[in-house]
Amino acid sequence: MYAQMVKSEATNDDPERLAAFQARIDAGEKIEPKDWMPEGYRKTLIRQIGQHAHSEIVGQLPEGNWITRAPTLERKAILLAKVQDEAGHGLYLYCAAETLGVSRDELTEMLLDGRMKYSSIFNYPTLNWADIGAVGWLVDGAAIMNQVPLQRTSFGPYSRAMIRICKEESFHQRQGYDAIRKMAEGTPEQRRMAQDALNRLWFPSLMMFGPSDKDSVHSEQSMKWKIKMNTNDELRQKFVDQTVPQIEFLGLDLPDPGIKWNEERGHYDYTDPDWSEFYDVIKGNGPCNTDRLAARNKAWDDGKWVRDGLLAHARKKAAARVAAE
Ligand SMILES: [Fe+2]
Ligand SMILES: [Fe+2]
Repeated sequence: MYAQMVKSEATNDDPERLAAFQARIDAGEKIEPKDWMPEGYRKTLIRQIGQHAHSEIVGQLPEGNWITRAPTLERKAILLAKVQDEAGHGLYLYCAAETLGVSRDELTEMLLDGRMKYSSIFNYPTLNWADIGAVGWLVDGAAIMNQVPLQRTSFGPYSRAMIRICKEESFHQRQGYDAIRKMAEGTPEQRRMAQDALNRLWFPSLMMFGPSDKDSVHSEQSMKWKIKMNTNDELRQKFVDQTVPQIEFLGLDLPDPGIKWNEERGHYDYTDPDWSEFYDVIKGNGPCNTDRLAARNKAWDDGKWVRDGLLAHARKKAAARVAAE
């Protein structure tokens, strides 16, 4: 089905329909699954929502790694709730993608065999407990920056999923900030761990917004379709401007000597991340790519008996219904 959609892309977009479609978007209307849409719109959304869903699911792994080692019962309960939320986010988003004519199984298979991507950040390890604070604070913080504007995206199911997700994301960021604050105010050793987590996760967090606008391949059309609401660099700048005062409040050192308030621009200057590292991680060469995909493949394989059992049960019920009619 997905392959068929991709093939038919060039054939069904007649200019009049395209103009009417664009006019609806410009007028702020939502596009719903049964409405006509250009194949490029459908395809871009499947890629974007699918990648987003995969990121929620794979994103459970670096944090799940610490559930058994959380320092207190309270921290464990908070982390457990957060990781469960991420599973829920993945489900909302897979459901939104399914309304575009791709099945959840197809999307999952494309993740598992590497045809679809997930956010590069989850290919970095969480080495100490302070990393869990830094992930909530910086990674969920960057995610919110991206997701809040997407509540106004043009595709109805995606927009509605984002509204639900954003409510939970702000809790995620607060719990992260609270955890790292505790470390930053703790013993010299805890403080050192908090600084180390910030230093390691800063540039990978900046990478979450995607390449610089000048190198971003999908931006212009996506902005026109309101699939993307801001450019990558706009969002990255917003994130830096929000986060630097928080770093200062924590009394931690800035993770980049290039961070400096620029009076003229009214924004913080900062050093761009190393984009060659970003592309390398996306290609599969990050520190944890192999582990993450192996874990997802194992979960999929281990769950086969459950899927088979549920399907057999559904088939049996359907057959009984037919026999009763
Ligand atoms: Fe999430
Ligand atoms: Fe989150």
